[in-house]
Amino acid sequence: MVVVDDGILDSNRLDFFNSNGYLVLDSFAGPDEVQSMRLRMDQLLDQFDCSTRASIFSTTNQQQSTDDYFYESAENISFFFEEKAFDDEGNLKQPKKLSINKVGHALHEKDPVFKSFSSSKKVSGLLCSLGYRRPIAIQSMYIFKQPGIGGEVVPHQDNSFLYTNPPTCTGLWLALEDATLTNGCLWAIPGSHKRGLVRRFIRGENGVTFDKPFPSYDENDFVPIEVKSGSLVILHGDVIHRSSENKSSVSRHAYSLHVVDTDGCKWAEDNWIRRKVDPEPLYAS
Ligand code: FE2
Repeated sequence: MVVVDDGILDSNRLDFFNSNGYLVLDSFAGPDEVQSMRLRMDQLLDQFDCSTRASIFSTTNQQQSTDDYFYESAENISFFFEEKAFDDEGNLKQPKKLSINKVGHALHEKDPVFKSFSSSKKVSGLLCSLGYRRPIAIQSMYIFKQPGIGGEVVPHQDNSFLYTNPPTCTGLWLALEDATLTNGCLWAIPGSHKRGLVRRFIRGENGVTFDKPFPSYDENDFVPIEVKSGSLVILHGDVIHRSSENKSSVSRHAYSLHVVDTDGCKWAEDNWIRRKVDPEPLYAS
């Protein structure tokens, strides 16, 4: 399934998305586009001095690993290490480039290469098909899923973290390498978006916390979403999804972009992201 240049979804694709809460678009980005993002990230990593400030990112220990560096990353290009990147003395066990979990959360604003993809006509066309009236890209991440140490991402819904009232978040997850069962592809529970939002991740005076305990899910309900490099996975903000640890010798790079609407809904002030400057809408209809 190859997407046309304008990104607009036909009724079959929309039906699949509405039924399942996710959709794969093969070849959404061409090889040159993928390569330009990978090369750009390689340059950013070269420039990153890991003796300066950085954080560890963990979804299994999210409340403890949240600090000012994390908060400020909402409007910056910030680097987060894998939990398993360090030895007992706190030294990196492997080269810097193989130790980073992700870079975020404003690549789509601060970097011209990622901005170009994020504000492309095909991304806007896609959002228009999904019914967005005045969408903003609120968060972007380059995710590495490093060989051997790439950490798991526990089951969650994106609306928990990027809440509007009513909820409007959609995740756009672009594979920059083939994502397989062995290197930690996405998994989702088809149709789980129809059961609504389970819990929220709230930023208060004393940091961030979930408003409800971690729900349990049946492993058998998840289906793997194995995709080729250049494929885009669209994730409804309420669909339950996760990814496993990468114990293989192959990385699994991806670029993820999260959008919310700003028309007919309200950004929650207790979200972890508190913008000093409001993002520009991708379009207004
Ligand atoms: Fe997610």
